[in-house]
Amino acid sequence: MSTFYVTTPIYYPNSEPHAGNAYTTIAADVLARYHRLKGNKVCFLTGVDEHAANVYNAAKKEGLSPQAYCDKIAPTFVKLWERLNISHDIFFRTTSDLHKRGAQKFLNVLYDNGDVYKGKYEGYYCLSCEEFFSEKELTDEKICPVHKLPLQWLEEENYFFRLSKYQDRLLAHIHENPDFVYPVARRNELLNFLESGLQDVSISRASLSWGIPFPFDPEHIIYIWIEALSNYITALGYETSSEHYQTFWPADVHMMGKDITRFHALLWPAMLMAANLPLPKHIVGHGWLTKNGEALSKTRGIFIDMDGDIATYGVDAFRYYLLREFSFGNDGDYRPARLHARYNADLANDLGNLLNRVLGLVNKNFEAIPTPTTPGEFDDEVKEMAQTTVDKLDEHINTFAFDTALETIWEFVRRINRYIQQTQVWTLAKPETKPRMGTILYNSLEALRLISVLISPFIPETAEKIQKQIGLADFDTVAEWGCLPAGLTVSKGEPIFPRIDTKEQKQPQPEAAVSFADFQKLDLRVALILAVEPIEGADRLLKLQVDLGTEKRQVVAGIAEHYKPEALVGKQVIVVANLEPATIRNVESHGMILAGSGDSVVLATLETEMPLGTQVR
Ligand code: MSP
Repeated sequence: MSTFYVTTPIYYPNSEPHAGNAYTTIAADVLARYHRLKGNKVCFLTGVDEHAANVYNAAKKEGLSPQAYCDKIAPTFVKLWERLNISHDIFFRTTSDLHKRGAQKFLNVLYDNGDVYKGKYEGYYCLSCEEFFSEKELTDEKICPVHKLPLQWLEEENYFFRLSKYQDRLLAHIHENPDFVYPVARRNELLNFLESGLQDVSISRASLSWGIPFPFDPEHIIYIWIEALSNYITALGYETSSEHYQTFWPADVHMMGKDITRFHALLWPAMLMAANLPLPKHIVGHGWLTKNGEALSKTRGIFIDMDGDIATYGVDAFRYYLLREFSFGNDGDYRPARLHARYNADLANDLGNLLNRVLGLVNKNFEAIPTPTTPGEFDDEVKEMAQTTVDKLDEHINTFAFDTALETIWEFVRRINRYIQQTQVWTLAKPETKPRMGTILYNSLEALRLISVLISPFIPETAEKIQKQIGLADFDTVAEWGCLPAGLTVSKGEPIFPRIDTKEQKQPQPEAAVSFADFQKLDLRVALILAVEPIEGADRLLKLQVDLGTEKRQVVAGIAEHYKPEALVGKQVIVVANLEPATIRNVESHGMILAGSGDSVVLATLETEMPLGTQVR
């Protein structure tokens, strides 16, 4: 059995957790759940980084001891993780004895190996980042580039870690292991930084009292980042080299936001090299969630209303939105309207309706899940797609492309919707076609079972609901086609994602009546999308080449936020062929593609394909 060890950063408990913390933790949770599903032995670590100056200051403000303050805030993290269905194995606190003893032992090892020395440090320090900034990174105002708050001038005698000594080894490691740091943009940032040269880092503080004392000089406390990074081994039982530690170290994935990748990909590996320990396999630095384009910030009071959105849409919709909407390495702007749109389009419509429709047909026509006796058209295609979906999903998860992973599953969901449509299964209830009807419904349920397995790392509650409705007693984890037993009694099928209409949503008003003669002026034609390209500088637009049977045309469509170019090629659509040509963002457009346009945008198509150029009336 393989093992899989995944971690989140340990969060500062200077205030309650925010959506940025939730984002990192949900991503790590997907990995942990996915590897459990594959039968791997998993350890998922998260926790809090308690010895921070910002924690000390927050406690002082409330008139509490730092420890009492941490004891109050740490449970709010646990509560949120429960609410978000996070499946961590360890919630670690750095005020625990296990950590204190482990961190001290680690420091002793660095010292004994000759990589710690005493020197003088002075510089501008950010109490929120817990980091010194060099003059060249700062403007005259000496403001923290991350938190936009004034920096403090610190001067003291410190212990230093010989980080510079490891520059060449780090460089070689990152060059030789292209998948050590994800995504590539982050790796390049690090390589640039490394080329400019590493300096030794100060790893002790004499002026602070809140922290873990240096094992060989109790006048000093251990610099928080050194102590914090070591949590990844102390939590496993590094101090006693426990069996747990031996089983899980080195970590497979350290998951985090981009701001702290440098600590994890340079300082931490250098410390491990100094202690002769193996390095973690992947450092993954995701982008930041923003709100109206601004970074979320405990210090500046910019936050996302997680409670409100979860109360309205449910935990799974919140998890789904975060993972599906944003490309994992890039920043993503959180927009409740997009969560709403994704809920209705992807969850309620594509998935929820599919389940409901299939269960409805089974209930109406059969006593229980029918036996698949009568293979027919499209069955093999669906089965093949099931397998490619499983394979592609694995690839995407292994490269932390959560959005593409979900899109891959949803392509399969939409394929099953099309299967129902293409086979017109609801028309097959007559005795002579009923066995075929039974087979199509069996296949659709098997597809739904498989879909429930594949979505379970992302939206676990929904996965369970689907399996219960299908009639499976225990959660079935087999990601292979053909495992659904016939004969199960399915449930009536409560909607798993009831459609939500916002109150303020305007009901579409009927337009003023047009004459039939006016309507006839429109030349609507069936067309095939041949090629699609993005338009530079226009996030919402795509440039499409379409075939109208008699001629090829270029059309601009405002659908880039709803369709990926590659998903459009080969689709039949309806084009307004006699629309006046227009130039949009310097690109000529000769016609318009029809689409349903509400919370989401969905292309209008014919129920079954027709010859290109066919008139639509
Ligand atoms: N305590 C350190 C980590 C030590 S790990 C050995 C720390 N804590 S933190 O609470 O400030 O942040 C923890 C994580 O939350 C980081 O991964 C950070 O990137 C993430 N986020 C904080 N704000 C964020 C967003 N707005 N968006 C996404 N994640 C962000 O740093």
